[in-house]
Amino acid sequence: MSKLSPPRLGINVDHVATLRNARGGRHPDPVRAALAAVAAGADGITAHLREDRRHIRDDDMARLKAEIAVPLNFEMAATDEMVAIALATAPHAACLVPERRAELTTEGGLDVAGHEAALGTAVARLGDAGIRVSLFIAADPRQIEAAARLKAPVVEIHTGAWCDAETEGPDVRAEAEWRRIVTGVALAASCGLEVHAGHGLDYVTAERISALPEIAELNIGHYMMGEALFVGVGETVRMMRAAMARGRTRGRAAS
Ligand code: PXP
Repeated sequence: MSKLSPPRLGINVDHVATLRNARGGRHPDPVRAALAAVAAGADGITAHLREDRRHIRDDDMARLKAEIAVPLNFEMAATDEMVAIALATAPHAACLVPERRAELTTEGGLDVAGHEAALGTAVARLGDAGIRVSLFIAADPRQIEAAARLKAPVVEIHTGAWCDAETEGPDVRAEAEWRRIVTGVALAASCGLEVHAGHGLDYVTAERISALPEIAELNIGHYMMGEALFVGVGETVRMMRAAMARGRTRGRAAS
């Protein structure tokens, strides 16, 4: 990626599967949403196969891998079961996330510093199979340095706390969360890590974070699929890409 081009946009299609599963059956199909997103310019597709299969199912992951022409990012817990499925699926990338059954979504980043040995094994097994591994972590120097020690090529910085604070009203807390992200992104890049970001992003926050030149990729799901109800998948992808391009141009002008 040139620092002049906007970050890549990965679209998470989990929530299409959530809606499908509310009734059972096959409609709406997350693969169809992925194909529409790709046709509108998405650079990649992300799907999270959770231990409880609450949205994406094994068959969805296999169909995504077979039917989409852009990189597939397999979001997963670092369990033996998921590592085996990822190895069999052979996606372009795997993003390791923490998972708790009771959570509504992925609430916090991975505690890489606290589980270096176990995560190191998963990172090595996936990496040896040619799968690009990213670790989903908070913008916390301890976690970033631990990710670098594990030689994961990529970290995805959890933007949820910042986005929540922005939604409640730009204030001192939102600014503090933003500063934490800016510092963490710079530290991760200085450790040689490729830096991605995601969770809770909308047009406004995606535009702002795209101004950071180190950000190579954003992964966005919930807001996009909500917007797609009103404007369609293709239009929301085009609007998001435009927001990210504006942010990157502004960042370039400021640097
Ligand atoms: N990145 C990771 C690692 C995630 O776990 C999620 C949520 O599934 C996202 C990005 C996308 O978050 P959101 O759906 O809030 O855009």
